[in-house]
Formats: sequence, structure tokens, C-alpha cells
Amino acid sequence: MNDHVPSLDAIKRYYGEVLKSSADLQTSACCIDGAPAPHIRTALDHVHDEVKARFYGCGSPIPFALGGTKVLDLGCGAGRDCYVLSQLVEPDGSVIGVDMTEAQLEVARRHLGFHREKLGYANVDFRKGYIEDLRTADIADASMDVVVSNCVLNLSPDKPRVFREIFRVLKPGGELYFSDVFADRRIPADLAADPVLRGECLGGALYWEDFRRLLASIGCADARVMERRRLAINNPDIESRTGAIVFCSVTVRAFKLDLEDRCEDYGQAAIYRGTVAEAPHAFMLDDHHRFETGKAMTVCGNTADMLSQTRFAPHFEIVGGKSVHYGLFDCGPSIGNGDELPANCC
Ligand SMILES: C[S@@+](CC[C@H](N)C(=O)[O-])C[C@H]1O[C@@H](n2cnc3c(N)ncnc32)[C@H](O)[C@@H]1O
Repeated sequence: MNDHVPSLDAIKRYYGEVLKSSADLQTSACCIDGAPAPHIRTALDHVHDEVKARFYGCGSPIPFALGGTKVLDLGCGAGRDCYVLSQLVEPDGSVIGVDMTEAQLEVARRHLGFHREKLGYANVDFRKGYIEDLRTADIADASMDVVVSNCVLNLSPDKPRVFREIFRVLKPGGELYFSDVFADRRIPADLAADPVLRGECLGGALYWEDFRRLLASIGCADARVMERRRLAINNPDIESRTGAIVFCSVTVRAFKLDLEDRCEDYGQAAIYRGTVAEAPHAFMLDDHHRFETGKAMTVCGNTADMLSQTRFAPHFEIVGGKSVHYGLFDCGPSIGNGDELPANCC
């Protein structure tokens, strides 16, 4: 990847020169809705105001049970999520933020000392690089426990390359957890090429079905939706151009596991031990799997693997193996499961 790809240069200009804070955004797409979870609110209290003012995320891609993990934030911007994550991975974990825009990285790096002093440790590293080629930021194969990203992947002109890179750098059993802008259809070429629409995270929005096909093509057969919310654009000019297109912010989780493309029934059950610190009473694997502490729940083979071959393994007891197959399992709407999201994806 070089600096001369026009659309990447336009994105760099947008985030490096046009936007100085979230007040400069022309739509509400790169904004979040509602109050953060209490543990994130507490962590945010320790983040520098300038970093928070340059937050352009559309969700909260911060999963539970991060203690001691190595986390990579793609398109980290001014570092707001990295500084939250640095507290959640604790001193023995670490966070790397990658971004291609020097002006964003300059803000992130300028406040490293402030956060080191505030927290009493330093475990964040900001690197210049491209998410299409994470070797530009020196990210090795199978080196990351968790990859997160907040409102960035839509901006890439080469999304297949980005997802291949993510699965290259994840460890086996590692997790991709990201929030991004999705659309209920492919974006027409004139809108996709418009620098403002692109910069505002609308022009490059992922069409849900193409995203599902893309993940399947790189071997990820079952990703799960955590949250979705319809986006308000709040700009009459832009709304008149995007017309009936529905945009959503969706938070997705996908594991680097060898999963099946349908949910299959092996007669397995999972019991949550109640040991994830942020979730003593119930653990949400996705928007339709809620595990109450101590209560056995029947699960498909993919869900059993997500709970037993990842960092969640110590928190679950899995009853049964895969030696006997009982047919298809009615698992609900996962994106690789044939039961697609409603057409408008919200
Ligand atoms: C919408 S902002 C989000 C920033 C940050 N995640 C946040 O929540 O504040 C998008 C960021 O992604 C970066 N970015 C976009 N495309 C990129 C690419 N191909 N490689 C690296 N960084 C990229 C931009 O420089 C910008 O900082």
C-alpha cells in the first residue's frame, strides 16, 4: 500500500485536515448513541479531553474479559478506544493502535505521558500504518488476542485485504470485535466516490450480504451480531442524496476458529460460571445468546467452540462433545447461518 492511492489520500485529508473535532462532522454517522457501560464510563474518566474530543467512532467495540490480552485497534484515530482498552487489559496486557493519518497519531501520542501518569503504567503503542497491510505497522502473524475497530473498515477501498490481514494477525481462537457502518444495499458508485460521504463513513458502508460473503470467503463461517442501531444522518442535503438507503451501526464479533457454516446440534450444553468481571449475573455472547450464571443452556457446535476454544474457556463448563450429531440446531440469526438479518439490517 502506498500513499498515492487517491481515496486513501482523501480520507487522510478528511481526518487530518478537515476534521478538528467531532463538532466538525457533517452527519451523525460517526457518533455514538446512549451512555457507555459503567466500566467504560469509569475508564473514560481517565482519558484526556482532547483525545475524547477527536473521537469519531460509531459504536463501542470493547468486549469483555480483556485482562492480560494483546489488543490491536485498527484506525485508532486520536486513541480514545486505545486509552480505554489500556485500562481494561490491565498492566500485563498491551494495546497497539494503528492509523495512517499523522495528525490523528500526533494527538494520540502527545497524551501518552498524561495517561502514563494517570494510570501508573504505560502499555499503549501508536503506530503509523495501513490496515490493508498490517506489516506496515510491524504486526506479526498470529500475534493478537483481540482486534477491534471503530468506524474504520467502511473507509477502506480494499476490504477483502483488510479482513485477510485481520485473520492473519489474530492468534488461533482470537477475536475480531468491531463496530462499523453497514447499509441495506450496495452504495451507488457516485455516492461511494464522494469524498464527504466517504469521509463521513457512509459512501463506503458495508452491504450486509457482501460482508457475509467476504467473511465466508476467508474461512469465517459464523460471525455474531452484538448490537445494531439505525443511524440518523441529520443532514438534509446528504439525506436527499442517500434517499432510501438505510444505514446502521452494527457491532460484530467473529473468532478465528474453524467453524461450520450452519449451526449443528451435537447435544451440547454450556454453563456460565459467572466469572467474567463485567458480567457476574449473565454473559451475552451475541444479541440472542444470553447465558445466566449457573444455568445450563443447550448450544450448537459453533457456540460451544466459541466458548471453549477462546479466552472465554475458563468461564464456561461445556457438557458433551461432538461425537454424536443430531441434525441442524435452531440457533437464531447469526450471519453465516442462513438466517440473515432483516433486509434493512437494523
Ligand atoms: C472515523 S475515524 C475513527 C477513528 C477512531 N477509531 C475513533 O473511534 O475515534 C477513521 C480513522 O481511520 C483511519 N483510517 C482510515 N482508513 C485507514 C487505512 N486504510 N489504514 C489506516 N488507517 C485508516 C483514519 O485516519 C481515521 O483516523
